Amino acid sequence: MNIERSKTADRDRKGTKTADKDRRTAAEELMKKLTLDEKIGMVHGAQLFQTAGAERLGIPPLKMSDGPMGVRQEFHPASWVPVGNSDDAVSYLPCNSALAASWNRELAAATGSVLGEEARGRGKDVILGPGINIKRSPLCGRNFEYFSEDPYLTKELAAPFIQGVQKWDVAACVKHFAANNQETERLWVDVEVDEKALREIYLPAFYDALKRGGSHTIMAAYNRLNGDHCYYQHHLLDEILDSEWGYDGVVISDWGGVHDTALAAESRLDIEMSVTDNFDDYYLADPLKERIEKGEISEQELDEKVVRILMLLSRLHMLGKEPRKSGSYNTPEHRQSALDTARESVVLLKNENRVLPLAAEQVEKLLVIGENADCTHADGGGSAEIKALYEITPLLGIKSLLGGNTEVRYVPGYVRDEEQTEKETGDVNWQETSLEDGGGRMRERAGAADEAVLRKREALRKEAAELAARYEHVVFVGGLNHEYDSEGRDRADMKLPYDQDLLIREILQANPNAVIVLMGGSPVEMEDWIRDTKTLVWCWYAGMEGGRALAEVLFGKVNPSGKLPETFYKKHTDCSAHAVGEFPGDAKVRYKEGVFVGYRYNDTFGVEPRFCFGHGLSYTTFAYSNPEVKWKEGRYEVTCDLENTGTRAGKETVQVYLAPAERAEDEPVQQLRGFEKIELEPGEKKQVRILAEPLKMESAGYSAWEAEQDAAVPGMTEVRIGASSRDIRLTVRI
Ligand code: BGC
Repeated sequence: MNIERSKTADRDRKGTKTADKDRRTAAEELMKKLTLDEKIGMVHGAQLFQTAGAERLGIPPLKMSDGPMGVRQEFHPASWVPVGNSDDAVSYLPCNSALAASWNRELAAATGSVLGEEARGRGKDVILGPGINIKRSPLCGRNFEYFSEDPYLTKELAAPFIQGVQKWDVAACVKHFAANNQETERLWVDVEVDEKALREIYLPAFYDALKRGGSHTIMAAYNRLNGDHCYYQHHLLDEILDSEWGYDGVVISDWGGVHDTALAAESRLDIEMSVTDNFDDYYLADPLKERIEKGEISEQELDEKVVRILMLLSRLHMLGKEPRKSGSYNTPEHRQSALDTARESVVLLKNENRVLPLAAEQVEKLLVIGENADCTHADGGGSAEIKALYEITPLLGIKSLLGGNTEVRYVPGYVRDEEQTEKETGDVNWQETSLEDGGGRMRERAGAADEAVLRKREALRKEAAELAARYEHVVFVGGLNHEYDSEGRDRADMKLPYDQDLLIREILQANPNAVIVLMGGSPVEMEDWIRDTKTLVWCWYAGMEGGRALAEVLFGKVNPSGKLPETFYKKHTDCSAHAVGEFPGDAKVRYKEGVFVGYRYNDTFGVEPRFCFGHGLSYTTFAYSNPEVKWKEGRYEVTCDLENTGTRAGKETVQVYLAPAERAEDEPVQQLRGFEKIELEPGEKKQVRILAEPLKMESAGYSAWEAEQDAAVPGMTEVRIGASSRDIRLTVRI
């Protein structure tokens, strides 16, 4: 944020404070008019995604929906059966990992705005996203819903995303608070994390999501944190969220994340939601009423919650006759926004001999291999599933770009395991039973598939390799799908499923120029073939226009500008959560790696990743020069010149890492603290200006705790300006 902008923000904040005071007074008055039953109705689910209102006083219920890749389809009020009408199809947006790969704050704001407008358009009040948990291990099944391994990058994108959502009189619900970094045993696992790691890695994005993003609601995570469940964790909810951060928004439980009436009633939690249809039996329903009537729980606890909920309704203009935005969904602008983000999310990881881009005019015949070329993903992954209005697959994107004069042949190259196909067609929504098995588990390590599947794969491989030898132009699109990137299930390792390693090897042997594209929400092992491939393109679950964006990158209509928002390890055991800490633990999981998460660990302890944090190539080249750094109003003002030295227009993300000159043992060697994305025409040169936050982030929000620690901060810092965490082009000491 620039300095002028931050002064205006200060003024705005003062105005907001007065409005909040009035809002609270009005909410307190209204609360006093409510009966005990009416108040109870407001603090728990009366349907799977809805609380009760108090019609008598014009208080509407709160309607919620998942998030974050679009607004989820409608379910029946008390069962996980989709209503099944055609009117709940929506824009399918790039997942948060894809958005993070764009390193583009404007796109984050635009994506949030589409989500908010569609949520309102569908009549929702709260959209359950964005998910901003840190990617601690590449194996976490929900990584695709999260942004990054880095708190700074996460917060820089999450805050504008939330502001975008809330422009539409819809509340964001930033989730899952906190340290919810795995699916295995997610309901019960006890995360043991030290204060420093909590403050510097796991909390900053939440702080910023509330303070700068202004998220009206926050979701308490399923897991325990240092002994206690997050729905009542005293340090997290009372000391940090309430006292330190002064949060006056609404805390909503994860679905089925509450386990005790008194603990929930007396905690900072405001609304209990769950997955079962016995709404009156929820802990904050009849059981709470009984305990209040017996005098065992003070009614004041309930009143406080109700006041906060009424304040939320007022913020969303749901009380009285104030005009409220009506929203809209499936607009052409939303599709354009999805395309803009998808284009900037594609990451070019490797491009030897400039194999890419392919020249569309010269491609007479093209062979496309791989199930992911011809597969849609919107309706998978767990609660982030979307009933997409449409989804352009890579194959559709490629064919529509090339047109009818090019002969495109498609072969699948591999098949899934039979067992999975059956599960996918089962008609019980997984969420109905999602509280079983501790809420989540680790996948079995892939054994050999059954004989018939193996034989089929062998035949498909043979077909693909034989064809690849005969075609000059070959594109393989493989990777993961939502069988692997999925809520409720962590991966057992980073191996590519369905014998794709074998397939890729055979394709590359047959045709060394074959273009390899992988899709997924988290990295995969590539060691079997990475040296043999000239190209590697990574695309995520990039929304309804993802296939078009990918085709545009492959054929040079769009110059790729995505950068990895996370480390791509050679194997998962290189990642600190596995090498030093524990994952997924056993009832308890100790984050022994502390703050050394992702590149912070690799760079400090000399671990060579396959592709480092921040890496991403372009079809053009950029030269960095003339660095200057000034200390200005609590920020490093970093400037340098950036020149496009190639022949194509392109975008570069200039990254600023800060390295303490004298590193304390518990500090990483460097940390991302600033970035800007710049667009340059060929030969064009611009001065880039980045306001980098100091190492002790203001947004870490641990002022009191920090003050005690601060004495030891060394004076000298190295400012590193680069194209990735390992491609540092300029350094300045200040
Ligand atoms: C997930 C939440 C989601 C909720 C409602 C839970 O299983 O953890 O992220 O918002 O369900 O669908």
